[in-house]
Amino acid sequence: MEGCMLRGLKTKGYRAYNWLLHLLYATPPRYRAGLFANFIGLQILRTLVFEFGYRLRKIAFRRTNITSEALEHDGISVFEDFLSHEQMKELEFEATQFLDNSTVTTDARPLTLTCNLHLIAKNGYRLVSKTFSREFFEKSGLYDIVECFLKKRVRIPPRVYFIKQQYHTKDLGLPQQDYQDEPHFDIPFRSVKAILYIGDTDDSNGAFNYARGSNRFTLQRLLGEYLHSIMSSKNKKTHRNPLQGLKLSRFRAESLGSVPGKKNTLIIFDARGVHRRGDFKTDHPRETIFIDFRDTDSWMNSIMAAPIMPRQLKKFGR
Ligand SMILES: [Fe+2]
Repeated sequence: MEGCMLRGLKTKGYRAYNWLLHLLYATPPRYRAGLFANFIGLQILRTLVFEFGYRLRKIAFRRTNITSEALEHDGISVFEDFLSHEQMKELEFEATQFLDNSTVTTDARPLTLTCNLHLIAKNGYRLVSKTFSREFFEKSGLYDIVECFLKKRVRIPPRVYFIKQQYHTKDLGLPQQDYQDEPHFDIPFRSVKAILYIGDTDDSNGAFNYARGSNRFTLQRLLGEYLHSIMSSKNKKTHRNPLQGLKLSRFRAESLGSVPGKKNTLIIFDARGVHRRGDFKTDHPRETIFIDFRDTDSWMNSIMAAPIMPRQLKKFGR
């Protein structure tokens, strides 16, 4: 009896702990609430609050760099030969090891193998390759770019995944089942994601597509957000991203440019801009490392972050 009670308490405590963590790590979604709230302008209010918050942070956080300025302007920046030859070899070796322990998702188009590298690092397993920790998890150059672009400190490491995606020959020409091949934006505020091509990637095996400049905050975009929130709340049951019914010009996304790249090309982009995963015209795999800084939008990142004062920045030579 006593044992049962203790087990019950433990379960409740564990649930409460999980709930608290979930709350602290939660990030704002693309839109909130139902049709009525969005009809009276909830999304306009949300978008304005996010933009106002960014402009306030910009007053205190003045550090900037070339890549963050390119992100500001185009929403995307591309680095060829991001890692050294040795680093890339090391990383390829480890990526192969990870693939053996990867999880197969249910999506058959494309067939997807995923490995969450951040969980491996978090659980204390040592990564053989120092490249992962040095370039993605510790205070890498990427952190500086993200901090300068978001105008805030990155206190939570990014989520990093090794992903291999592939189409069966019989499925070529069919749409992708996770709808990632449809033009969409992830959220109504600035947030950074990056893709490192592990193999040569072009229009035949799902090269990333992005509409340059579609990340910018404009009045047309605000109206687009409003219309999009109404359409999304009407179609709540589907996971589709219904940009199709809207004028893409409102999002400056009339044409999405393909971003092909050789192995070792890194693409950094603002997920507020319109993008999509390209089509698979062959059965060649698309192998990438996906780096997501989305957790910087959570309460946890704010709680952990000390306020940045210009004097402190000077002290650290920034
Ligand atoms: Fe996306």
